[in-house]
Amino acid sequence: MSHDVIIVGSGAAGLTAALALAERVKVLVLAKGELTGGSTAWAQGGIAAVLDAGDTFENHIRDTMVAGAGLNRRETVEFVIEQAPHAIDRLVELGVPFNTEGKDLHLTREGGHSHRRIVHVDDATGRAVLDALLRAAEAHPNITLLPHRACIDLITGRHEERYSGSGRVWGVYALNEQTGKVEVHTARATILASGGAGRVYQFSTAPRGATGDGIAMAWRAGCRVANMEMMQFHPTCLYNLDVKNFLITEAVRGEGGHLLNPKTGHRYMPDYDERAELAPRDIVARANDSEIKRDGLDYVHLDISHQPADFVKHHFPTIYEKLLGLGIDMTKEPIPVVPAQHYTCGGIVIDLHGRTDLPGLYAAGECTESGLHGANRLASNSLLECFVFGEAAAADILARWEEFDAPPPVRAWDESRVTDSDEEVVIQQNWTEIRRFMWNYVGIVRTTKRLERAAHRIKLLMEEVNDYYGHFRVSTDLIELRNLLQCAELIVRSALERKESRGLHFTLDYPEMLPHARDTVLVP
Ligand code: FAD
Ligand code: SIN
Repeated sequence: MSHDVIIVGSGAAGLTAALALAERVKVLVLAKGELTGGSTAWAQGGIAAVLDAGDTFENHIRDTMVAGAGLNRRETVEFVIEQAPHAIDRLVELGVPFNTEGKDLHLTREGGHSHRRIVHVDDATGRAVLDALLRAAEAHPNITLLPHRACIDLITGRHEERYSGSGRVWGVYALNEQTGKVEVHTARATILASGGAGRVYQFSTAPRGATGDGIAMAWRAGCRVANMEMMQFHPTCLYNLDVKNFLITEAVRGEGGHLLNPKTGHRYMPDYDERAELAPRDIVARANDSEIKRDGLDYVHLDISHQPADFVKHHFPTIYEKLLGLGIDMTKEPIPVVPAQHYTCGGIVIDLHGRTDLPGLYAAGECTESGLHGANRLASNSLLECFVFGEAAAADILARWEEFDAPPPVRAWDESRVTDSDEEVVIQQNWTEIRRFMWNYVGIVRTTKRLERAAHRIKLLMEEVNDYYGHFRVSTDLIELRNLLQCAELIVRSALERKESRGLHFTLDYPEMLPHARDTVLVP
């Protein structure tokens, strides 16, 4: 089927772009699984924006660049931060019920921020934002939302019926997860808004579908990717044997929570950084990791029980209820927490208009490297990036609409040489293996030797998975496995290229930071 614009992903970035485009053109939004399956629905803390009279754009810019260890592109940082108040206004117009204090929005605080500047909806901001975006998208006559479509690859000049071999992108091949058939969706312009690659790690706060599909698709089609070694670990994921990826928002520390060593009861963060629990995430995650490894602990404690019980319940109703259901009363006792992968700072290289290296292809949100986050994302800057680049990509497409030709006839998906898999176990085994060695060898603290071990295993697995992919019909699990592996390869290759420690990339072999910050750019 042919459309005006295709958007891969129904999270904050994809739906923002869809709503802006739908003013003038017809948009198809494709999503793997349910429309609510991305990270957006899981966001807790909020959205960063300069809204307080005592705060300035310059403060927010400086905090972003300090957290990013100078690897950020200043032009992008300024662009995004200056758009933030407008993005919040749009969300208010869409009906997002942000918490208020008198006539103003209530601002909470998170690590790395020198001021209170996080607007939020209790401790479940993402869900409220996604509900509002989805409501508006569902009501819009120019937007078609198609869930249960797992996009496999971008359609380019190589797939035209009259082969052109050009890098021009014409849409996607997508597996209909309900019929098992591969569909062809073509369009004049395509936007990747497919989220991060967190599930490449054994422990991650990200949802099951965060398998880096868009990053891998863009790479295979010929886009550059950058700074993939900058995988962010959140310091405080709940430690629980049954519930493995429940985040305890950074706002708990912002509202006074302390990190304690469970063996000694010692509040250790002031020993690591003068900003204590409010230091940027990379520093707090490394401190937690170091306490856990040094003392052979399973977890550290996050304690906010010294605050009045009503204050805690009022600020964190979702977390309070969830923990209570697991037998932990956070108003009376500390919460056991561990670091876990949380955010993919690197990704597809884009410019300020969301343009990628390929004609007709745009990208926005967590799948991109826009220059905003540098070597470490500042808390609550991610949803903001989705809104700003979702709009920027839409604006650029509309401004250049006359330049976008109608798509040519393209080849159907060829299934003539594949059969149904008789060895699904290969997929499960490889998923588990990748995620485990990525956690152990490419985690918070790295060494060249461990990275080389991971690279060796990835090479072997890639041969096996490519062989499997060539012989069997695609399934969502297989599509994801192939993409996870591709992202693992990009992460390890980037990590081996960086001969310093900066932000999230910390290696014992090069513990110092080099004087000049340089992106790790991989060219396909
Ligand atoms: P997502 O919301 O992840 O959406 C991705 C979309 O792409 C989904 O619809 C998915 O189905 C689709 N997709 C993926 N692959 C395919 C494919 N092959 N075919 C078709 N569709 C595909 N950030 C903040 O700024 N503030 C916070 O408070 C905050 N809290 C967070 C809490 C948690 C637990 C997590 C995990 C993240 C948090 N983040 C937060 C980060 C933030 O939520 C994400 O970075 C952001 O939501 C990403 O939005 P996105 O639109 O780029 O992608
Ligand atoms: C959190 O609420 O701690 C997550 C915020 C973020 O990822 O920006």
